[in-house]
Amino acid sequence: MESTEIKNQVLSTLQNAINKNILNKVVFSRAKDKNILKTVAKIFYKDGEKKLKVQIFLKDGKVLQKIYGINDFLFEFAEDPYKNYRQIDLVAKNKTLEILISSKGKIHFSGSLEGAEKNFISDSQDEEKKYILTTENGKTFLSALGILGKDGRVHDKKQAKYRQINKFLEYVRTVSDMFKNQDRLCVCDLCCGKSYLTFAIFWYFTEILNKKVEMYGVDLKKDVIEYCSSVAEKLGYKGLHFECGDVSNFTPPDMPDLVVSLHACDVATDYVLAGAIKNRAKVILSTPCCQHEIQNQLKCNALSLITEYSLLKQKLAVAATDALRAKMLEIHGYKVTVCELIDPEETPKNVLIRAVKRERPIQGITVKKLIDEYNSTCDFLGIKPTLSRLLNMPEFFQKSIEKITF
Ligand SMILES: C[S@@+](CC[C@H](N)C(=O)[O-])C[C@H]1O[C@@H](n2cnc3c(N)ncnc32)[C@H](O)[C@@H]1O
Repeated sequence: MESTEIKNQVLSTLQNAINKNILNKVVFSRAKDKNILKTVAKIFYKDGEKKLKVQIFLKDGKVLQKIYGINDFLFEFAEDPYKNYRQIDLVAKNKTLEILISSKGKIHFSGSLEGAEKNFISDSQDEEKKYILTTENGKTFLSALGILGKDGRVHDKKQAKYRQINKFLEYVRTVSDMFKNQDRLCVCDLCCGKSYLTFAIFWYFTEILNKKVEMYGVDLKKDVIEYCSSVAEKLGYKGLHFECGDVSNFTPPDMPDLVVSLHACDVATDYVLAGAIKNRAKVILSTPCCQHEIQNQLKCNALSLITEYSLLKQKLAVAATDALRAKMLEIHGYKVTVCELIDPEETPKNVLIRAVKRERPIQGITVKKLIDEYNSTCDFLGIKPTLSRLLNMPEFFQKSIEKITF
């Protein structure tokens, strides 16, 4: 085989694997230069850009190191690997492809990268800060939404949103295992606004996890919904639908696998949660905001030490609102955790309620205990949260506990 043919074959295999975002490292071995033990090129991300850290391990124990951009690496370093090395291993998470080059210039491929798992990538060189969505793998939709500039970088004013979406996606990833046996998913993003998160989740399930997804973004704002619909159409995201309307009136056509809501203002979060519960969503991920309702109702002499200071009253009301929401989800058969979405220094709107429907709902006396707990907290604080009203809690309480089913 001609040496240029080998070079092209090696280069295109390498380039393909790098572009597909499946490669962890490339190991060059059996060097012609007898001083070289091996050379390892590791992929990492810095400021959203894919780079390679190339380390040449010498037989005397020294290590030479250089950082390359992808194109520089391909054209400066890897262009003539066949001249310098007899073996090149392309190593993905769960697969390896060996390229063997004989002394007579014959090339032999062993193993395969078919079906290799995509990489979740590092944003910093050494410390593997994992970002699911990057400016590379999500380039198409991030550009279409105007998050990326012409230079391919995230606009300064969109940086916080970009980090927030990535953090949210991490939570989506933690629950995505629940859907591993499903080809099709129904996902809702309620109070989706400009829908950066909606697009990101749709992209994650369809392009990273290869699922078929019907996803619904709902918001009151007509112009925003029209814009999002047009972007979805332009991108050919067939399963992504946007509806203009009040989330309290929205019912998805199928039982939702996942309902997400990011910063649905005040009681809009309660409408989202009530709908998700009624529609038997398997998983709910909700980051509430502007929890004003309880603050205006709160009347509790025993806590006057706190409530006399409006800032502390506000913080107490926020905590009580979300704790009661979490408890209500528990009552309705969900296992709930309350976590921090992102570094609290970035935004105070930072609580994420993660609710996963239990396979076997808790029943009888345990539910009664939860309801009593919920009720006595509301009585103590002198409040009537919207969520309990939406779920007809007074009637619910009156039901005989034995008859409660979810
Ligand atoms: C703070 S924005 C968040 C938007 C988006 N989820 C995000 O994180 O970028 C809140 C959105 O909720 C929408 N909204 C508020 N109440 C709503 C309701 N009852 N039904 C539908 N949308 C609602 C508003 O129009 C607004 O776009």
